[in-house]
Amino acid sequence: MTEQPFSPARGTRVIAHRGASHEHPEHTIEAYRQAIADGADALECDVRLTADHRLVCVHDRRVERTSDGRGVVSEMTYEELRALDFGAWRGSGHAGARVLLFEDLLKEALAAPYPVGLAVETKHPTRAGGRLEAELVRLLGEYGLADGASGRVEVMSFSRNALTRMHRLAPGLPAVYLIEHPVRPPRPPFATHAGPGIDLVRKDPGLVGRLKAKGLRVRVWTVDEPEDVELCVRLGVDTLITNRPRDVRKLLLDM
Ligand code: G3P
Ligand code: CA
Repeated sequence: MTEQPFSPARGTRVIAHRGASHEHPEHTIEAYRQAIADGADALECDVRLTADHRLVCVHDRRVERTSDGRGVVSEMTYEELRALDFGAWRGSGHAGARVLLFEDLLKEALAAPYPVGLAVETKHPTRAGGRLEAELVRLLGEYGLADGASGRVEVMSFSRNALTRMHRLAPGLPAVYLIEHPVRPPRPPFATHAGPGIDLVRKDPGLVGRLKAKGLRVRVWTVDEPEDVELCVRLGVDTLITNRPRDVRKLLLDM
């Protein structure tokens, strides 16, 4: 393994949100390859379960926004999803991009020229029940990544229940409790990180310090603007999730 293209600045980690999704269609192999080329510390991906129990990297419940098809991911088979174009919505230059199996993203990460991490967000916690988490842990186990010893995989969710299910199956994996609203059910006691959105941090910058005082590492999403990067660094945020990993790394290096 070689070093990352850029050394981390100020110890702030950079996670590529859905890949380098400012430049490429989100969740495509092209977006993730770009994020690795950009030196992202880790790759964020949303995972959903298809009707035939395959884990795919798709954010929305339905495919309309990011493909040329129609339907609900969990009601479609992998082959049905494979037939769709997941790139053309971002312009003809991206046409032909295919849905990405989580297993293929895993292989890409493991083959990267430096030990890039994976920050996996489980969608959708109430609809897929425990089946998604079970399949995720099974697959990670096949690659020797389920016990957390590699330090390469973290699990994220807005759902306390989903994180609890994951923790029962894979207690060694770091758990990131995502926060979108100021009032949330209490964080699970095993959570290692809290993940507030940048809107919350802008409105209440003291939140970062309060979370850190509880011993949590703080990861903020989605941080694309220079002034937000500066705010997060000033507040001591540990990790930035961004659609623009190359630009954010450059900003951090130049600070
Ligand atoms: O990484 C956290 C962030 O991705 C959560 O929001 O909607 O982009 O999955 P969303
Ligand atoms: Ca996400």
